[in-house]
Amino acid sequence: MGAATFDTSASFAVEMDSRDPLAGFREKFHIPFGPDGRPSVYLCGHSLGLQPKNARVYIEEELEDWARLGVEAHFHGRHPWMPYHRQLTDQMAEIVGAKPLEVVVMNSLTVNLHLMMVSFYRPTQTRHKIVVEAGAFPSDQYAFSSQIRFHGFDPATSLIELTPRPGEADIRQEDIDSLLEGEGAAIALVLLGGVNYATGQLFDMKAITRAGHAQGCIVGFDLAHAAGNVPLQMHNWDVDFAVWCNYKYLNGGPGCAGGCFVHERHARAFDVPRFAGWWGHDQEIRFLMGPDFQPMAGAEGWQLSNPSIMSMVPLRASLEIFAEAGMQPLRVKSESLTGYLEFLLDQQTREGFSVLTPREPNRRGAQLSIRIHRGGRFICDQLVDQGILCDWREPDILRVAPVPLYNTYHDVYQFVERFVSVLP
Ligand SMILES: Cc1ncc(COP(=O)(O)O)c(C=O)c1O
Repeated sequence: MGAATFDTSASFAVEMDSRDPLAGFREKFHIPFGPDGRPSVYLCGHSLGLQPKNARVYIEEELEDWARLGVEAHFHGRHPWMPYHRQLTDQMAEIVGAKPLEVVVMNSLTVNLHLMMVSFYRPTQTRHKIVVEAGAFPSDQYAFSSQIRFHGFDPATSLIELTPRPGEADIRQEDIDSLLEGEGAAIALVLLGGVNYATGQLFDMKAITRAGHAQGCIVGFDLAHAAGNVPLQMHNWDVDFAVWCNYKYLNGGPGCAGGCFVHERHARAFDVPRFAGWWGHDQEIRFLMGPDFQPMAGAEGWQLSNPSIMSMVPLRASLEIFAEAGMQPLRVKSESLTGYLEFLLDQQTREGFSVLTPREPNRRGAQLSIRIHRGGRFICDQLVDQGILCDWREPDILRVAPVPLYNTYHDVYQFVERFVSVLP
């Protein structure tokens, strides 16, 4: 649906919700309450997704099995813990566009990023640089710099930060291409966010991977803001590896286990250096307790510890909902909801803000980042006080994410109405 078909009335929002084929999915989530005791307008799915109602039911099942069976639940529970993570694999592979062999749920994002860099950032004296986006999420920046130092290099000379052109908010694909063409021979690794956490820019991961590979670089992505948000094709785009968290658009709950993709062509690269733990060891012989590490084929070979079952249970509940809804219908609604948000903001005559996120639907996901020119964090605080939950990123960005699984057109309408009223 394009801007021409939206209108500014409240009744339009209500009408859109009544015609939304995915509207019923909202019922599957707990919507937090606002200060007035009514359901809030929750636009923070880019930060922490909402709780699927089945999460509690499934957690209680695991608690019961633990109480009833103790250690035996590893093999004889209703959802045996030993292979528990495998129940997530097919649906997770579907979400990131991968083969099951290429995907595992394990650890958390930053840990997985380090594990991937241990294997796939192999700097040499001539090829030691990492290309990243300027202003990448801080944890990624710390990981990049510490990995560079770990190999005896200096971030000042080994880190290349892609920046938007002066006066622009997003990074142009042509600038990525020309950097790779110019400096490719010195670049070991290209590692960008699939969707930038601050601006909401969705990168062309296929084009970046092709351009990086043409220069002999390894290409990886941090999909924290992309997984469950936009359709992904990690396998077909030929990406080497990717990592993500499952607590944002994927609703796995705070601190949920993260995700990791390793392309099939590396599945049996047993000679690449890797940090090892018993859960990555060939499961057929794991309990022989032998001293020599034999990694499993595929992404599972990078596991370290036996995983926290409780941290994966809500994710199972959420992935079932994703499987029912389907990424493609979700994307259709998402583009429409975000387009509607943009349309309503465009109609405002009040000054004091501008939208940073690209205007083209294929260059963004569910998030619009609004630069606040006056009033700062106070704007966000006032919205939260009124039951409109969005978030603030220093120094001046209000991030708003209408999530197609549980947000409504009326949520978007209410956000814009209140947002405009709190602008100074
Ligand atoms: C883009 C990005 N990368 C990395 C992280 C860090 O994730 P974790 O704390 O799960 O390692 C986050 C967290 O929000 C993020 O948004």
